[in-house]
Amino acid sequence: MLENYIRRSCSRIFTGEQEIALKNEVPSLAELHEKFQDIEETGIYLHIPFCEQICPYCPYNKEIYDPAAAQEYVSAVKKEIELYAEILNRKPVTSFYIGGGTPTTMLHSGLEEMIGYIYEKFNMQCDIHLESHPNHLNQENLEKIKALGVQNLSIGMEALQDRHLKTLHRPYDAAAAQEAVNRAVSMNFKCVNADFIFALPDQTEEEVKKAGEMLVNIGVDQVAAYPLFRFPYTKMGSMGKVDNFHLSTIFKRRKMLRILEKIFYGSGYERSSVWAFTRKGQEKYCSVTVPLYIGLGASGGTYLKDIFYLNTFNVSEYISSMEKRGNAFALSIDLSAKLQMAGWLYWRIYETKFRKADFKKRFGRDFDTLFGRYTKFLALLGFLKDDSEQVILTNRGTFWLHAFEDIFSIDYISTLWGTSKQNPWPEKVVL
Ligand SMILES: C[S@@+](CC[C@H](N)C(=O)[O-])C[C@H]1O[C@@H](n2cnc3c(N)ncnc32)[C@H](O)[C@@H]1O
Ligand code: SF4
Repeated sequence: MLENYIRRSCSRIFTGEQEIALKNEVPSLAELHEKFQDIEETGIYLHIPFCEQICPYCPYNKEIYDPAAAQEYVSAVKKEIELYAEILNRKPVTSFYIGGGTPTTMLHSGLEEMIGYIYEKFNMQCDIHLESHPNHLNQENLEKIKALGVQNLSIGMEALQDRHLKTLHRPYDAAAAQEAVNRAVSMNFKCVNADFIFALPDQTEEEVKKAGEMLVNIGVDQVAAYPLFRFPYTKMGSMGKVDNFHLSTIFKRRKMLRILEKIFYGSGYERSSVWAFTRKGQEKYCSVTVPLYIGLGASGGTYLKDIFYLNTFNVSEYISSMEKRGNAFALSIDLSAKLQMAGWLYWRIYETKFRKADFKKRFGRDFDTLFGRYTKFLALLGFLKDDSEQVILTNRGTFWLHAFEDIFSIDYISTLWGTSKQNPWPEKVVL
């Protein structure tokens, strides 16, 4: 297939690798101590792998919520906190994100205990970001979320019309979702983000326009508007043709994104990443704000400059491995300098802008000498603005460069997450 050919050729050019593979050769404790030595600060991601239902389109690692499993999960996560607290030795944690699955499934069964333990063991110098489900946001729960110290709340609203909520098998109607988001907005969080999925089957442009206007009227601080992606290992992906890169799909997404851009730009929002629009002057809600991070929990991923490693995805294996071995590392990859730079650029393109000085700070190399010829060419095509200090993607570039990145990420996610879901301890995964 054409996209396979593009993926392999570009991957070789940008990473210099014949094959990108994660293996079951995971770091020892001594190696981890060494790797953390020259790291000044880190982010923390905590994964909550439980949901009350499994949505047919969702690629994330989760299983049906079970109170007994949740209780064991808390003990396992606390062991992992101890592991990293010892290695980090009070180095500052400058970003903290709790994602899932649905973190609010554990609101009354361990979330507080895990957050409390993180604050006790780490040198936390940041806000808490939490993902939530509309069905969990009654007044009492919102007050509990506030009392946990959460300042930034994301809500999986997904659609604002009943027929689309039905297509997505979401267990609420549009009026209930709006009420939940309204309640959250009135609670004075620093940032309330609403997740919204567009380019749904049979969705009209008029419906996207209406939904965009409603989101603005509700008064959320940020909207993360994702086009529907079909992952082959999800129910929706297995039901029909996986057509993420069909030209008609790409053009439909682009047209709908243009409609949303017009509404959000016209209402005082600005683009904060490829798919997110944040109210001007507002700090954005986002998953990782520092380039290096530790991932806690089943499927938690850790990135430390020259290595990326992943915990097992399987919840009961995670719990028993923490118990027996004191860690749950399943797969890792050593990152060459070229691979690190490719990863760094991938995320900066996602954020739609970067300063060349930050590249120099991270890699000690001059950006223009290494990549200037590519950015100059892309500037000629109108995809970005390139001056001596920074690179900024244009609206056109934001869409097409990201459509290009998706050729990589959708396939990488499908391969890595799909394999890790099927096999808790894979020997090797070739991306
Ligand atoms: C881990 S979910 C968090 C929210 C929470 N679990 C819920 O469902 O309400 C993160 C977000 O990813 C987005 N998402 C999930 N699967 C997607 C897909 N196949 N295509 C596009 N966006 C997707 C949804 O907007 C979802 O809210
Ligand atoms: S979309 Fe949210 S609730 Fe649905 S399965 Fe995924 S993580 Fe769970």
